[in-house]
This record gives sequence, structure tokens and C-alpha cells, in this order.
Amino acid sequence: MKDLNQNKIPRHIALIMDGNGRWAKQRGEHRLFGHTKGVDAVREVLKAAKSFGVEFLTLYAFSTENWNRPQEEVDGLMNLLVDSITNELPELQLQGVRLVVIGDLKGLPGNCQQSLLNGMESTKNNKEITLVLALNYSAKWEITECVREISLKVAKKELLANDITPELISAHLTTREIPDPELLIRTSGEHRISNFLLWQLAYAEFYFTDIHWPDFGKEELKAAILSYQSRERRFGMVSEQLSE
Ligand code: IPE
Ligand code: IPE
Ligand code: MG
Repeated sequence: MKDLNQNKIPRHIALIMDGNGRWAKQRGEHRLFGHTKGVDAVREVLKAAKSFGVEFLTLYAFSTENWNRPQEEVDGLMNLLVDSITNELPELQLQGVRLVVIGDLKGLPGNCQQSLLNGMESTKNNKEITLVLALNYSAKWEITECVREISLKVAKKELLANDITPELISAHLTTREIPDPELLIRTSGEHRISNFLLWQLAYAEFYFTDIHWPDFGKEELKAAILSYQSRERRFGMVSEQLSE
């Protein structure tokens, strides 16, 4: 594999971690075994992203639609979340990882909220990389909340309808302090975004791989970044303008 161009590292990579269940099924294991292995992949990919100089890594960990899974799987995922945050916290500190959560936190079980709040508070001054976990998240939920918040401000005359710009909308999303992702990766062969970051992905490059999430690691991340680096991002212009 070629070397990465250090001048073209995406600042922010968003990742739809998919395929834990299929990975487990192929091995005759329970779906939760796949999710447990998925946590190992998170650890490896976070480390790799940091070593490549990525500043923000957003992981889609639980969507608002995932509540519709069998109760046993939902409970298993919530327990895994609490255990992982608790167990990984010392390593996150050591690695200088700042933890941020986007999504409807209040809809999560109390012990999950507690461990997430604790994780965010104790890592808030870390500067090496920001790990954004999308939990109980969906883009339609986020945009609905944003519209509600802006409407209230207009109703209270804190804002005029004419003040509403793309920048103002961005400033009312859960990602207000995070730059938009340049690269979106989805594992496990599905070509859809499943209600993830609709607004923020407006100009992202998409990368799909058939590899299931538990098998995704440093080399796969590097391959995705290499693909990103080989693309011409024109933002509506023509090629000749970009080299001017
Ligand atoms: C992704 O793997 C993890 C979550 C959505 C929580 P899946 O559990 O969706 O695995 P597949 O897609 O069924 O194989
Ligand atoms: C998307 O994966 C959500 C997460 C990775 C958390 P899903 O497996 O839930 O998405 P669909 O059902 O294939 O669209
Ligand atoms: Mg899936």
C-alpha cells in the first residue's frame, strides 16, 4: 500500500460501524459476540486514526431505529456500552482522547447516561483526538430538534426569520462544535446512510467496504483514507479552477 499524503489527511472521519451481527453469524456465534468484537475494532481504529493525524472520529454506535431490535440485543448493547466506557476510560486518558456524545442522551438508561457524562467530563481537556459517539442518534431527530429550537427563538423574537442561514442551522445541531466530516466510511457492504448526519455529510466523500466491522482495522482505515486522497473534491467547480 502507498503511504498517506500527510497534507491531505481528513480532519474528521465519520464511520457507520456495520456488520457485527453477520460477522458473528458466519462464525456460528450469537450477535452479541459480534458487538463485543466490535469494541476491539473501535479501540484499534481510534488508535490508528490518531496516529494518522485525524482530529475527529465520529462513530455511529446506536441509532434511534435500533430500539426496534429484539429486547435481548438492545439490553446487551446498553450493558456493553457501560462496560466499555468504564473499562476504556483509563486508556482514553492515556491516549489523550476527548469523548463527546451526540444523540438523545436522555432516552438512554440511567446507568448509561451516568457513565457517558462521567466519560465526557473526565476527558474534556484531552487534546489528541475527539471521539464522537452517536448514541440514540438519528439525523431526522437532530434536524427536528434544531428546527424546534430555532422556531422558539423566532417566536420569542430572539431571532428574525431572515437570520436563518446555513451557518445558523449548523450552530443549532448537536455537532455545532465539530467540523463537517470530509470522509464517511460504512462497513459491511450496505450502501446507505441509515439516518446518520444528513446535514453534515452534504459534501463528504463516501467510502464503502464489504469488510464487517469486527475485521476493520488500521490497514482498512488507511485504504479508506488513500481512496479519499485520490479523489478530486470540486465543490461544484470545474477541475481547471482547482489547480489555479
Ligand atoms: C452494527 O452491526 C452495530 C449496530 C448497529 C449496533 P449490526 O448489528 O447492524 O450487524 P448486522 O448489520 O446485523 O450484520
Ligand atoms: C446503522 O446500522 C446504525 C449503526 C451502525 C449504529 P444498522 O445496521 O442499524 O442499519 P440498517 O438497518 O442496515 O439500515
Ligand atoms: Mg447492520
